[in-house]
Amino acid sequence: MCGIIGALCDHDVQDELLGSLRRMEYRGYDSAGVCMLNGGSFQQAKAPGKLSNLERKLADRPLSGRIGIGHTRWATHGEPTIINAHPHISSSVALVHNGIIENHHELRTRLSAQGCTFVSQTDTEVLPHLLEQKIRQQELLDAWREMLAELEGAYAIAAIIRSLPGSLWFARKGSPLLVGRSAHGVYVASDALALAGLVDEVMYIDDHEWGRLTLEGIELYDLSGKPVDREWEPLPVAAHDAEKGGFPHYMLKEIHEQPAVLRRILRQYVREGGEIMFEHASFLHEKPLPKRIVMVACGTSYHAALTARYWLERYLKVPVEVDIASEYRYRDPVIGQSTLLVVLSQSGETADTLEVLRMFKQHTPENDALALCNVPSSSLAREADGLIELLAGPEIGVASTKAYMAQLAVLALLTLFMARRAGVMPEGSLSEHLAGLERAAAAMEGLLADTSAVRRAAEQFADVRGALYLGRGPCYPMALEGALKLKEISYLHAEGYAAGEMKHGPIALIDGQLPVVVIAPRQYHLEKVISNLHEVQARGARIILIVDMPETGRSANAACVLRVPEGDYFSTPLLVCIPLQLLAYEVACMLGTDVDQPRNLAKSVTVE
Ligand code: F6R
Repeated sequence: MCGIIGALCDHDVQDELLGSLRRMEYRGYDSAGVCMLNGGSFQQAKAPGKLSNLERKLADRPLSGRIGIGHTRWATHGEPTIINAHPHISSSVALVHNGIIENHHELRTRLSAQGCTFVSQTDTEVLPHLLEQKIRQQELLDAWREMLAELEGAYAIAAIIRSLPGSLWFARKGSPLLVGRSAHGVYVASDALALAGLVDEVMYIDDHEWGRLTLEGIELYDLSGKPVDREWEPLPVAAHDAEKGGFPHYMLKEIHEQPAVLRRILRQYVREGGEIMFEHASFLHEKPLPKRIVMVACGTSYHAALTARYWLERYLKVPVEVDIASEYRYRDPVIGQSTLLVVLSQSGETADTLEVLRMFKQHTPENDALALCNVPSSSLAREADGLIELLAGPEIGVASTKAYMAQLAVLALLTLFMARRAGVMPEGSLSEHLAGLERAAAAMEGLLADTSAVRRAAEQFADVRGALYLGRGPCYPMALEGALKLKEISYLHAEGYAAGEMKHGPIALIDGQLPVVVIAPRQYHLEKVISNLHEVQARGARIILIVDMPETGRSANAACVLRVPEGDYFSTPLLVCIPLQLLAYEVACMLGTDVDQPRNLAKSVTVE
């Protein structure tokens, strides 16, 4: 989704604006632009496509100024053209915006009738004109307050005003925004990573807040215009978080970080003696266990929840419902009492997931909502009753890898924790499972040390148009996830299926051209999976088999066998992540796609 940066410094800001836009590239975008204010006039440059197009323009004709705003746009209203790229400008206001102004049509009609000329197809363009009109009629602070009161929808805004070169303006409702400061300047951004290496301290802006930054400090207000007081806090990311660390892609770097992420999770949540503690979700420790669990998420996070359903139902014997956030929020769900909502999200800003949380809190305030989230400063993390942080570190590759594994690991711990509280898991089994998770970190390292077998398996995809992934039990959602990873970054069609469901339709697809990835670890109904494998094999499919027992591989006569070390009921999916992610990565590299920023995708989907 779009990225916002604004800077006001004691030096020229063009390079800093561009550097920040670079660090936000991972969010997904299809055009970019900057505007700077110098000597009382706005100078701007915009370009469709990659940021390098804008950088080339600026190399030819650099801008200068100590205050400026920049934006990467992921098109919603209007195509990704120069005209539609931000910043949008009226005669005295330049502005960048994330989100959607839902009443833009009505505002545009009114402003046009009053003489404003619009050039773009965007919803955003109403904002500078509306502010301009308000500024003409009243004091600046009143003008901002009145403008914001008229807006429907979601926004994060950064703006500069021609007559005020010493003020950087901002406002937030529904789309993330933070401000930062260093000894040499102040900044506003939609993403902490944009500020990495630029500032020491940040302040997160809450919904309905707005204000201005000057080199002297910040003025922050609520919607009624009342001043808000808030502490600055240390910037949570380092400049090296935005680097590839010697890997050709962020995605590969993040796949390789997984053993360290798993160890970090175990160190954080498992105390000596095997006690599991979730410090920021005290209700889990204090209140009676729920009679029902509802887990809601999107995309990869949804797949993690689907795997956890098998774990939770098996041990807790309570019904667990899992749904996609965009469906759940519109289907009038029956929530009931003693229900725990678990919302899962890497970014914590996914609009549909956030809306489910808000709806749940509004309809059943007596129930608790737990967020499993990688960004503790995100809206989801802050609005839920409790948080289990995923501790994966910033995830920059658009295709989620380490955050998915982290979700699985945290969900495994949550299951073990609840099972112990429910008195349904003997201490001996609990410590065995914890030891299994510990061993998985080292086993992942072994898998990552030699990826040649995965590279060979990827060759099976050189001449195909699609693939099928099959699994059973907790590995059925992993088949969904393996297929999603492949389609996201290689643009090949792929489908994940429950292996037992294959005969009910998709078997018609099978021929010698179709790679079928069969996930067949010992833990989950191996014999049944093997008989499904024979069914596809009999029809000539190219089998890529993921196994943990060498004998399964030997007997299968597959085109390729990818072996993972043997895990237990909880650690097996964590190990299977590695070949599934690497396979998608290798296929995408072989096909030459843009692995870290696949077309049309955004890292954090902050609009519906
Ligand atoms: C897939 C992927 C997406 C996200 C989905 C939810 O690789 O990254 O499917 O999982 O957009 O995002 P979060 O987890 O941030 O809510």
